[in-house]
Amino acid sequence: MKIDLGLAEGLKTPLYWYDLSILTSTLEEIKRCIENKPVKVHYAVKANHNPKIMKVIADAGFGADCVSGREISASLKAGFPAKSICYAGVGKTDRELIQGMKEGIGYFNVESLEELEVMEELAREYGYTADVALRVNPNIDAHTHHYITTGLEENKFGIDLSMLDRAVDKVVSSTCLNLVGLHFHIGSQITDMKPFELLCDKINELVSRYSEKGIEFKIINVGGGLGIDYDDPEGHPIPDFKRYFDTLLKNIKLRPGQELHCELGRAIVGQCGALISKVTYVKQGVKKKFIILDAGMNDLMRPALYGAHHKIKNISASEGSPLEMYDVAGPICESSDIFGKDEELPVTHRGDLIALLSAGAYGESMASTYNIRTLPESVLV
Ligand code: LLP
Repeated sequence: MKIDLGLAEGLKTPLYWYDLSILTSTLEEIKRCIENKPVKVHYAVKANHNPKIMKVIADAGFGADCVSGREISASLKAGFPAKSICYAGVGKTDRELIQGMKEGIGYFNVESLEELEVMEELAREYGYTADVALRVNPNIDAHTHHYITTGLEENKFGIDLSMLDRAVDKVVSSTCLNLVGLHFHIGSQITDMKPFELLCDKINELVSRYSEKGIEFKIINVGGGLGIDYDDPEGHPIPDFKRYFDTLLKNIKLRPGQELHCELGRAIVGQCGALISKVTYVKQGVKKKFIILDAGMNDLMRPALYGAHHKIKNISASEGSPLEMYDVAGPICESSDIFGKDEELPVTHRGDLIALLSAGAYGESMASTYNIRTLPESVLV
């Protein structure tokens, strides 16, 4: 990631800095991997709903994966065609379901028998028809942080395998719902391909089981989850999409006419963004030195919420400066407002600019105004 210090110095911090060239190279690499293959990628809007970022992804021809009515509206505004939008979520409200049907989105990833019931009622009442993919909980451990593991029996997501027959029957017998696919999502920040392989086996088993009953699925949606390299973002600015798509395409036995859909979020936008913050104080503690930033956990919540680590760089320091150990913290009144402990950084001064790398996904989109702070600014360069 290239950060133009002169430009950054003139802008208000905390600031999300987005590098357009990394985003477009990432999108091009995905397109190269799926060229001439029956694969469609829906960008998971939750990772970053910055309108400038969304527009670049829409213009590149990707679909959108939404989880709220407002994400649907933002996607349409950014230029994603309605038909390229899929919509998941365990708690879609009546208003959101009606919005999706009215806008004519591609399909709904339905997460429970209860939701099917309500959808059917609403579709009948308002005279809509809707395409449905059933989100299956495959009970596969993605071996990632427990807050972002979603495909286990104990999680609230998806329809349990024991209830799937009932859900399939319900859609097949409905006059206003069409069964178009199966949907899965096992978790996020997955870097080992093994959980995806297990998912593929489960998919093959389900597809052939239903095929024997004469039920075919046009769409197999495997969700998102491909991880990025938080330790070495500069060495690996683009995730290994080839390995990911090869794993899926080698292991899923797609039938003629069947499409593979993915909902990648982090892998698309994670490495194109950095949070830039100014050093407010370098504070001498009893045994430690603290760098106190003007960015806090409200601007980038991942370290406080998941114990995540984003690589920290002093971009004002000149090359070859001596190094020193610091804890890097924000100004928020919480002990978890820490971005790094015992970080070896060039000797740092008040006013220096610090970049927290790999912050393009779940950074700006999860920012809050806690402590009545303002939301961070952003720039796309
Ligand atoms: N599809 C579904 C149904 C999802 O729930 C998610 C993410 C995705 C796709 C996109 O997953 P990705 O490709 O980005 O891994 N805030 C957390 C991540 C939460 C992910 C929630 N679901 C974090 O900062 O690590």
